[in-house]
Amino acid sequence: MYLRLGSARQSAKIWILIAALSCKQFTEFSFLSFPGGLMNKWTLFTGVLMLCTLSTAGQVLAQGDAANGKAKSAVCAACHGTDGKALVPEYPNLAGQHEGYIAKQLTDYRDGNRNNALMAPMAANLSDQDILDIAAHFSSMPPIAGVAQEENLSHGENIYRGGISDAQIASCTGCHGPSGKGNPAANFPALGGQNTAYIAAQLRLFRSGERANDPNEMMRSLAHRLSDTEIDAVANYIAGLR
Ligand code: HEC
Ligand code: HEC
Repeated sequence: MYLRLGSARQSAKIWILIAALSCKQFTEFSFLSFPGGLMNKWTLFTGVLMLCTLSTAGQVLAQGDAANGKAKSAVCAACHGTDGKALVPEYPNLAGQHEGYIAKQLTDYRDGNRNNALMAPMAANLSDQDILDIAAHFSSMPPIAGVAQEENLSHGENIYRGGISDAQIASCTGCHGPSGKGNPAANFPALGGQNTAYIAAQLRLFRSGERANDPNEMMRSLAHRLSDTEIDAVANYIAGLR
């Protein structure tokens, strides 16, 4: 990188150089030495500062520690199992669930954005770091394979894969994926193998609005048009999905 001294852009370029030097990704910005005229100097300066801030923020982003999370989640095993498989089908399996989704749920319980008499007290005293550690721990476990019943399986499959066009219900595949793996980047939870009773209960809670922690009402907006028969069928299908 070099600076063309004497140019009218000199002072701006020096500031850009300072901004770039204060940034670890300095070398990536060596394109800034172009002879000039391509960009407004202030746009360029602000851009460099923003990139530096972003990359620095990325380096200090908090991370979960699965080993610490294991120690912190001994009490959780009473209901969610030591291997992340719930002891009863009314409770969710946590093994293999996405880290970001687990962390969001624990934060929601703690902060009163998701309510449950059994779960909310469990999350009440968790710090942000506890939540990240515990999420890393359960997320690192191999997912549990569930079993679906034959009875309403094809009805459930049709809903999961095709939605219900008469009721303008989108397919579940669109967000939760064809094999129920969800989408970690978008915080769409994995569903495949989850307990039928738990899934059906959550769909009813979204339908009544008692569970209201879904961003942009993504779940409530479709669940309020699902019948009991449809909920039971799609929940059964999800249990066998992998
Ligand atoms: C007494 C039983 C019990 C204990 C102990 C317990 N949980 Fe739960 N957990 C539940 C129940 C029941 C639900 C579902 C509640 C609902 O409908 O919102 C749940 C839900 C969750 C969820 C949401 C899962 C999902 O798929 O959305 C997470 C995450 C969770 N628990 C983590 C924990 C952690 C971490 C601990 C320990 C600190 C813990 N639980 C202790 C019963 C328990
Ligand atoms: C537009 C995207 C989208 C579509 C389509 C969608 N979901 Fe969801 N679903 C979400 C999001 C986002 C969440 C998590 C909400 C939160 O953060 O608590 C979720 C959560 C759930 C949960 C709760 C999981 C748990 O562990 O507690 C169930 C069950 C569920 N969805 C079932 C379905 C079914 C069945 C369909 C199809 C009829 C469907 N979803 C379609 C976005 C979607």
